[in-house]
Amino acid sequence: MTTGDPRRKALVVGASGLVGGNLLERLARDQAWDVVTLSRRAPSEHEGVSHLAVDLLDAEQCRRAAPALADVTHIFFCARSVEPNYVIKLDSNRLIVENLLDALLPVAKRLRHVQIIHGMKWYGSNLGPYRTPAKESHPRLPGPNFYYEQLDALIKRQEGQAWTWSTLRPHFICGVSVGSPSNPLSTLGAYAAILKELGRPLDFPGEQGAFEAALNITDVRLLTEAMEWAATEPRCANEAFNIVNGDTFRWRDVWSMLADHFGMQAGGVKPMKLRAFMADKEPVWASIVRKHGLRSGRMDDIADWAFADVMFVGAWEQTASVVKAHRYGFNGMVDTEEMLIDILTQYRALRLLP
Ligand SMILES: NC(=O)c1ccc[n+]([C@@H]2O[C@H](COP(=O)([O-])OP(=O)(O)OC[C@H]3O[C@@H](n4cnc5c(N)ncnc54)[C@H](OP(=O)(O)O)[C@@H]3O)[C@@H](O)[C@H]2O)c1
Repeated sequence: MTTGDPRRKALVVGASGLVGGNLLERLARDQAWDVVTLSRRAPSEHEGVSHLAVDLLDAEQCRRAAPALADVTHIFFCARSVEPNYVIKLDSNRLIVENLLDALLPVAKRLRHVQIIHGMKWYGSNLGPYRTPAKESHPRLPGPNFYYEQLDALIKRQEGQAWTWSTLRPHFICGVSVGSPSNPLSTLGAYAAILKELGRPLDFPGEQGAFEAALNITDVRLLTEAMEWAATEPRCANEAFNIVNGDTFRWRDVWSMLADHFGMQAGGVKPMKLRAFMADKEPVWASIVRKHGLRSGRMDDIADWAFADVMFVGAWEQTASVVKAHRYGFNGMVDTEEMLIDILTQYRALRLLP
């Protein structure tokens, strides 16, 4: 921030989640930012950070919260409305953006930027093979997409205004979070722990094609760095950016390394629907929790098996170009193999996973 700029105040929406919680960690320790958070559950506590418990699906609750948020300068929208079994509905995800903006925009006179976190579902990564590496300039797909609805709702409200927007597109976000189970690495770690407890090797639960497909994923620490950059770099105004680690990997190539980390033998490709397989494994998880003195109570707090079934089903390349972000000045990169072990080690140190 240049001298003389008014102080920045961030509203982190979805601060109890994986992305929002990690952004909160970043901004709360940065003197350049004041921070206020919003979600239904409280996020981790930080000195000087206040929290508003608001259900974004309730327009009246949003209106009641708005006066307390009138001085925010940057909105980081990291909320996502997910129903049981990883069902993500279009209408509710459009509404959470519309309700917040319609309540806040009339009062937020210092607003400079609104950022929404999206992902590779923008390109249909969850639907089947698509054009890769995905570029921000690729045309939208036909058919419904909750990200399109959210961005259109945002752009409609921004036209003619002084504030700007940005949107970032990460893929399979890796990072530590508590109580936010749609998380690739906590889910993988819980999967490994359960197979180990059952005396089985670390089998790959997807198809052979998914084991071998080229993938890009995103370290949440890289993502939060990019979030701050895109929200404050004037050249990023009204632009979208892919944010992935910058290298490509295949589960096939890291599976033995992961098995070593978990103290297991690497198994073979044994496709299974984890949602069905895990349906009766809560007692197994309870025994793991006791044995290792873990802090994670229920298996549902750490692993989302419907999400895992989506993560391991994709037998197609899922890669994205990061050229645009680099051209605009963001040069962060992460070595995916190092990141996998680093984050799983953090989970172990925090006694969230064995
Ligand atoms: N996880 C991934 O691997 C991944 C990959 C690519 C893209 N993304 C995208 O990244 C964004 C953030 O995802 P995430 O993984 O951080 O999600 P998450 O961990 O599930 O967190 C979602 C956040 O939204 C809040 N929320 C949900 N419904 C709400 C409501 N009605 N009112 C208020 N707050 C509500 C939740 O808080 P409460 O429940 O406390 O209200 C939580 O803080 C999403 O757009 C997602 O699609 C995620």
